[in-house]
Amino acid sequence: MTDRNYENCNSQNLRIGMENRGEIAQLYPTPIYWVHMVNNFPTIQNEIAKALDNVDFKMKEAWGSTHYLSDPSFNGNFIVENGLNSLKDEIVTHLNHYCQSLSFPHHNGVIATSWASLFKQGNYGHCHHHGSTDISGVYYFRTGNSDGKIYFENPVPCMTSSFVYKSLCERQEIVPSDGLLCLFPGWLMHGISTNTKDTDRISISFNVDFLRHKNSN
Ligand SMILES: [Fe+2]
Repeated sequence: MTDRNYENCNSQNLRIGMENRGEIAQLYPTPIYWVHMVNNFPTIQNEIAKALDNVDFKMKEAWGSTHYLSDPSFNGNFIVENGLNSLKDEIVTHLNHYCQSLSFPHHNGVIATSWASLFKQGNYGHCHHHGSTDISGVYYFRTGNSDGKIYFENPVPCMTSSFVYKSLCERQEIVPSDGLLCLFPGWLMHGISTNTKDTDRISISFNVDFLRHKNSN
């Protein structure tokens, strides 16, 4: 095992000074996009409220007692099947902003799957990712702000073992609010902290996939 006690090794001390300061590149970032309030908020809310009237929320048995879903199979498309066109248009607008900032060229994309999630008191969302989905997102329909936050884990877990870099690894949270829309990479590990309030929290999640052209990966 390496001896990390260098207290008596003054001759080897590195001089960390201010002279001739260099540059730092933040390589390999993890872009997360969010907008605190969508356009057409009242219309989007009305559309969702009507669609929720017909939802029979159920838990996904294999996950145990986590939270309720409009479709525990994840095969359905809550946004498309219920004609939530105002929400869809808003997602497209912000996808365009997000993709521009990623320098991702314009491709045709689809909302491949979507579902509503209900978090009652004591419910939570385990840490997970959305597999090979290109971009995932969530829209907050009803939240009391402190009834469960979405959090993202550092995608470079080996950094946590580093004395120098571990302060950069802390879990990052977004406090939800009604009308907030968030987009993030489908591969990014994320979860929802426990709803400790007696208010129900409802959000709409979705996965976006872009069509592949012949010569693209
Ligand atoms: Fe998720």
